[in-house]
Amino acid sequence: MKLIRTIKAMQEYSRSLHRKDRTIAVVPTMGCLHEGHLALVDTARKHADSVIVTIFVNPAQFGPKEDFSRYPRPFRRDLGLCRKHGADAVFAPSSKEMYGTGATTWVEEVQLSRGLCGKSRPIHFRGVTTVVAKLFNATLPDAAVFGKKDYQQAQIIKRMTRDLNFPVRIILQETVREKDGLALSSRNSYLSPEMKGAALAIRHSLLSAKSAILKGEKGIAAIGKSISDAIGSAGGKIDYVEIVDAENLEPLKKISGKTLIAVAAFFGKTRLIDNIEVKC
Ligand code: PAJ
Repeated sequence: MKLIRTIKAMQEYSRSLHRKDRTIAVVPTMGCLHEGHLALVDTARKHADSVIVTIFVNPAQFGPKEDFSRYPRPFRRDLGLCRKHGADAVFAPSSKEMYGTGATTWVEEVQLSRGLCGKSRPIHFRGVTTVVAKLFNATLPDAAVFGKKDYQQAQIIKRMTRDLNFPVRIILQETVREKDGLALSSRNSYLSPEMKGAALAIRHSLLSAKSAILKGEKGIAAIGKSISDAIGSAGGKIDYVEIVDAENLEPLKKISGKTLIAVAAFFGKTRLIDNIEVKC
């Protein structure tokens, strides 16, 4: 497995694969890899001849009060996991390599990014789309795999790829969970065991909401309130509970078609997100 640090070396490696007619799938990550990330790597393997994992904690997507400096970076361990899951290369540039030229260009999606996480993290998605565009230009992939845990992010990246004509197929992967249902996240490492238990209220409340909808509940406000109440009584502080159209992420007035219920809540200082799709 190759470890590549510069954009030039990355492009040269990808071009050499393309010359041999090998297709490439990329899995962009910020490291601190868990089974969720590794499921993306396994999916990437199924869709292309070569797999590149990128590991880069992207400063541009963290707000000033967020956890950029304390974000966990177990780099050697991550490399071992990539090797074990058959990655051909890991691209792990420095911040200087990615942004050191005094870059003044952003890639910004302006519609899907407005709601949900975009409200409380105003510069976040601009940082994500900019870095993913740069990672696409560095790794020159045929396909890229993203997780549905970050559902809004995945939709925004699909839109950016379409709008900017990147010749990249976007593949989405279902959320990987602990046995008890908690969505795996690098940020779970900030949680005490008690908080982890309490945070399960997110998953449980989303499952109850889904079954209520499937049994005929149509009241958006009532569904939202039952989720907020359940998370609140477990000690979580709600950032948002939204019931939106799963395609355009616009808030729904009544439940019909492909619906997404998305939640962000703080347990202590840790902000967790999760979502559930309901087709009705
Ligand atoms: P990161 O949080 O490291 O996640 C990398 C990828 O793993 C994303 O596509 C995310 O949706 C996916 N992922 C995380 N937890 C998952 C889980 N439990 N199940 C399935 N997939 C999961 O998302 C980012 O990094 C960054 O914003 C990035 C896209 C790399 C741009 O910097």
